Amino acid sequence: MTGERPVPDPEESTLSTHPVGIHDLSVATGSHVIGLDEIAARHGVDPAKYHVGLGQDEMSVLAPDEDVVTLAAAAALPVVERHGTQGLRTLLFATESGIDQSKSAGVYVHRLLGLPATVRTVELKQACYSGTAALQMAAALVARDPAEKVLVVTSDVARYDLDSSGEPTQGAAAVAMLVTADPALLEIEPVTGVHTEDVMDFWRPNHRSTALVDGRASIDAYLRAVSGAWADYAERGGAPFEDIDAFAYHQPFTRMATKAHRHLAKVAGSGLDRDAVDAQIAATTTYNRRTGNSYTSSLYVGLAALLDSGELDPGSRVALVSYGSGAVCELFTGIVPEGYREATHPGATTAALDARTPISDTAYLELHAAHDVVVADLVTPHRTTGPFRYAGLDGHRRQYERNEPATR
Ligand code: HMG
Repeated sequence: MTGERPVPDPEESTLSTHPVGIHDLSVATGSHVIGLDEIAARHGVDPAKYHVGLGQDEMSVLAPDEDVVTLAAAAALPVVERHGTQGLRTLLFATESGIDQSKSAGVYVHRLLGLPATVRTVELKQACYSGTAALQMAAALVARDPAEKVLVVTSDVARYDLDSSGEPTQGAAAVAMLVTADPALLEIEPVTGVHTEDVMDFWRPNHRSTALVDGRASIDAYLRAVSGAWADYAERGGAPFEDIDAFAYHQPFTRMATKAHRHLAKVAGSGLDRDAVDAQIAATTTYNRRTGNSYTSSLYVGLAALLDSGELDPGSRVALVSYGSGAVCELFTGIVPEGYREATHPGATTAALDARTPISDTAYLELHAAHDVVVADLVTPHRTTGPFRYAGLDGHRRQYERNEPATR
């Protein structure tokens, strides 16, 4: 007995041959919204700088009784209502707006959704990239056992210091994705390209509630990472640029997706003219222009907008380009299956965006400041219009509850 195991023959892989990917997807955002004209007035800049230069019109603002948990549960509720919990074995919660250094925010969501105790739950972090890590891990779990389902939830609120250049690029949103075999919305292809590089372009140390950023360096790091991920994707046998019909990017502001895609088209040697290149991302930016940066959710908010547009023909290939500062980038592709349009819910995200209450700059400033207060006990005012609320702190314990329909 040598104790050595035989090396598995890759030709005899036990992994399933079922396509694996996103079966259902749902977006939630905050109850409030502020137009960027309000921010431009306080900053004393031409509003066109934000609308054209950054490609942003509004940003979602959370009510005092909302956080990444209530947003995530609100996004996931319709998915659980539509599909039930049978086969669900894992909940992956991706965020960089953590509410606890130890306990996963996903465990609160698990209770709010009434998931069975047999669903494992964990939180993942790597800036805006963690949602993609969760999706890839989910795909691997489902490939191992196609009877299993994984609920991936991305949820973030982007916060910068007041009067900083990052302030107009704040926002908030959550996306819930059910990952299954034989998915209805997007079949994830196995080849992916990755790029990791230790860079201080954007970070949030534990003692801060707002992020620190080197704006110009972050744009350069993003573009460098896209080149790196594309090189790896091509090297590993990925599809040629011409065989990809649409591209969805991480969107800290939608103009960044334009910059990144023009850069990729150049790096990949595309012969397309600028209008044709821009058209490949146009449908992905409509929701992000209104939510603002939702960090790890923003790529999937972009994917939701693309799928909801119904623009793609079944069989089309979509590239997803995920960037998280610090930095990790991953570029991968998926095929939109036959009948995918019947599995979308195009009115739902637009309704959530339209339902937000517009707030003045004064009200927004008060909400921004309220996040910085650290206390052991707190009762939050009842403001959210979502299905769940953060009721406050009791002896440092966060209190979450179902929102009473009468107050919604
Ligand atoms: P800034 O200094 O306020 O703006 O910072 P600017 O002077 O660079 O102008 C922005 C654009 O507006 C420029 O366009 C101007 O020309 C244009 P560009 O040259 O870049 O194409 N402009 C106008 N356009 C029309 N009419 C006008 C006008 N005036 C100017 N009147 C910056 C902008 C993005 C750096 C800042 O907002 C910031 O620091 N944001 C936060 C960081 C960020 O979003 N970085 C993006 C890459 S990193 C990333 O995506 C990761 C992240 O999501 C975090 C994570 O991973 O967790 C941030």
